[in-house]
Amino acid sequence: MARRLAAAGCVAAEDEAAELVRAATDDDLESMVARRSTGEPLSWITGTASFCGLTVLVDPGVYVPRWQSETLARRAADLLPETGTAVDLCTGTGAVALALAAARPRARVVATEVDPRAAACARRNGVDVMEGHLADPLPVDLAGTVDLMTGVLPYVPIDGLHLLPRDVLAFEPRVALDGGADGLTLVTEAVAASTRWVRPGGWLLLEVGTDQVDGVGALFQSAGYGAVTLLDDDEGDPRAVAGQRYGGSVAPPGGQASSR
Ligand SMILES: C[S@@+](CC[C@H](N)C(=O)[O-])C[C@H]1O[C@@H](n2cnc3c(N)ncnc32)[C@H](O)[C@@H]1O
Repeated sequence: MARRLAAAGCVAAEDEAAELVRAATDDDLESMVARRSTGEPLSWITGTASFCGLTVLVDPGVYVPRWQSETLARRAADLLPETGTAVDLCTGTGAVALALAAARPRARVVATEVDPRAAACARRNGVDVMEGHLADPLPVDLAGTVDLMTGVLPYVPIDGLHLLPRDVLAFEPRVALDGGADGLTLVTEAVAASTRWVRPGGWLLLEVGTDQVDGVGALFQSAGYGAVTLLDDDEGDPRAVAGQRYGGSVAPPGGQASSR
């Protein structure tokens, strides 16, 4: 089985074969191997992915959470107060929201998602998800109260989509990947929209491409976030931007703390 998977282009064929055996019932192993040999994501076939040590349910058609996003999830969990409020934009399966809820069981964690299939999957994972565009579906009572907003938004530029691995392009939903002309259409909108929700002193963390972090850091600063930091993934590549909203006791450089 591992040889078949390797011949089909699977890099970690031995591990994948073992995972398929674990997930299979007696009569469906052959069809699972055949599906994987076409390049279909392993998690769509087994129905799960591992994220921050958690087992996340993954429905076919829904973006598979990536290990690179664990950096953002772990840092976000550190920043979320025990009984705080977090919003995870574009939650997909709900992986980041689940990691936050696992680390801070007494916190309120809500999420948004535009794709009904992904929203249904996040609900199956137990995430409180609202369907709609970016922060639009959030209840108004959250305005100005959110301690932490996270997001792994689509950030691939349209003319870079063809550079993605063949299987990602062939199978994963374009709505999860396509970030518009420069890749930052939704990210730019989310940074601007976040200031309605994130309280002064609260945090915004967004994952983007390594070549986008500096530009996104500048966006954070012009939207009123300080302490802007780039977060490295486990391979040492900067993959996310974090910033703390000015206001309250958090003053911009050279400025005075305000009660905004
Ligand atoms: C790159 S995936 C990340 C999913 C999840 N956060 C994760 O890390 O596994 C981006 C997700 O954003 C969703 N999405 C795309 N456009 C959106 C929008 N305008 N508003 C809300 N969600 C959106 C996609 O359906 C997809 O689930």
